[in-house]
Amino acid sequence: MGSAEGIAEVKKELLQSCLEGTLSRHSTQGAHGVNYHHPYTGTVGYSFFMPTMSLIGVGSINSAGAQIQELGFKKALIVTDKGLVKVGEVEQITQVLDTINVKYVIYDGVEANPTDKQVEEGVALLRKDNCDFITSFGGGSPHDCAKAIGVLATNGGKIQDYEGFNKTKKAMLPLVAVNTTAGTGAEITRFAIITDTSRHVKMAIVDWKVTPTFAVNDPVLMVGMPKSLTVATGMDALTHSIEAYVSTISNPVTDASALHAMKLIMTYMRPAVHDGLNLKARDMMSYAEFLAGMAFNSASLGYVHAMAHQLGGFYNLPHGVCNAVLLPVVEVGGPKAGVLSDVVEGRGPDLQEFNAESVPHLFIDIAEAFGHRDIGEDANLAIKRVLEDIRRLRRDVGVPKNLKELGVKPEDFELLAENAMKDACGLTNPRIPTKGQVIQLFRNAYEQ
Ligand SMILES: NC(=O)c1ccc[n+]([C@@H]2O[C@H](COP(=O)([O-])OP(=O)(O)OC[C@H]3O[C@@H](n4cnc5c(N)ncnc54)[C@H](O)[C@@H]3O)[C@@H](O)[C@H]2O)c1
Ligand SMILES: [Fe+2]
Repeated sequence: MGSAEGIAEVKKELLQSCLEGTLSRHSTQGAHGVNYHHPYTGTVGYSFFMPTMSLIGVGSINSAGAQIQELGFKKALIVTDKGLVKVGEVEQITQVLDTINVKYVIYDGVEANPTDKQVEEGVALLRKDNCDFITSFGGGSPHDCAKAIGVLATNGGKIQDYEGFNKTKKAMLPLVAVNTTAGTGAEITRFAIITDTSRHVKMAIVDWKVTPTFAVNDPVLMVGMPKSLTVATGMDALTHSIEAYVSTISNPVTDASALHAMKLIMTYMRPAVHDGLNLKARDMMSYAEFLAGMAFNSASLGYVHAMAHQLGGFYNLPHGVCNAVLLPVVEVGGPKAGVLSDVVEGRGPDLQEFNAESVPHLFIDIAEAFGHRDIGEDANLAIKRVLEDIRRLRRDVGVPKNLKELGVKPEDFELLAENAMKDACGLTNPRIPTKGQVIQLFRNAYEQ
């Protein structure tokens, strides 16, 4: 036992028994300290990913020029969409570049749920115009498309080559991500979600080398968001925070980010939806989406996203709306969740929830972040409150009721479930479902 490996093994055992000892006084509390209800999960530590710098808060776009200048870039490929060019919003970034005499060319072909074809168009323009950096301007779609363009610019090949975890060999081209929605968190994350047009699936490229160089989150750029976009993107951020909190690889840093994001969203989402010019609400929703992005960027996501990506890729539906419809079903079951017992061997008819059944204590923390002070250690009460709150919020802000309303077809559930099971986001769900269960979750979301 004198060898280096022997000593390392003893240290590992000591650490494990020490952590499990802490937990032995309580079935779930302890591993993440101060009353969070996470169980102990391992001895290999955690990774935490973030851009080295972010500009955030009212007026932060005004500081972007100085930072770009400091990095010494010469010519930008601005990646954006036609909507933002049409309303003149894109001038918020062109003016910054004009002021510091940095040249640019605009690629505005990005559409919601960006595709492999749009990535290729962007790469062609970038090469033709010899751009030495990229600036994405918009919501998650321009940021993701820009990341994929940046990857191909330095690594070559096609974007399908980088689907999955850490497949790139070289850093992507530098990316300044200026965000206009609240939001996907894509402006700070190591995820790029691109639709493969031949397979009709959204590929998840998860790679720390696609993290933007720096991000700008100025709520002034978000006040023009129409109501439906504020709803979809706010529900996306709420989903990020909940999925990150119940993820199997959450840690105290991501916990803190996720719980505070939930608190802000439950306080400021309604005001942001009902009065888009409420700058305080926009500002707080911008912090919330940033915090939720910080949380899932390292803790990853779960089956809401794994399933939502299939709906987005197959029917070209807005990402946040898909999440909003699926969220209560995957996290805390649907009104017909009991029928899951038909497909889960050995389960009684009392099965009421999906993820919540695996990690009920985590819902105590979520219910507290939602503002409930009377939960104590009652996980069932917490699950009930969380479900009621999500449903009430969805009603108040006008989320479509179910997948039927979105035009989804039950005959596609088998294929959608098969693809959802291959999505990288599902790996950290607190519970890995069978294909039959995923189909049933789609059915529940169809009829809820
Ligand atoms: N990479 C990640 O970490 C990550 C995380 C979640 C979602 N996503 C992806 O992000 C995409 C969705 O992004 P999104 O929801 O931000 O929307 P989006 O980027 O698809 O934009 C949707 C529409 O909103 C308009 N818009 C954007 N900002 C506006 C503003 N301030 N005012 C008025 N109109 C505005 C755009 O012109 C566009 O027409 C999906 O493809 C999803 O898969 C990525
Ligand atoms: Fe998302």
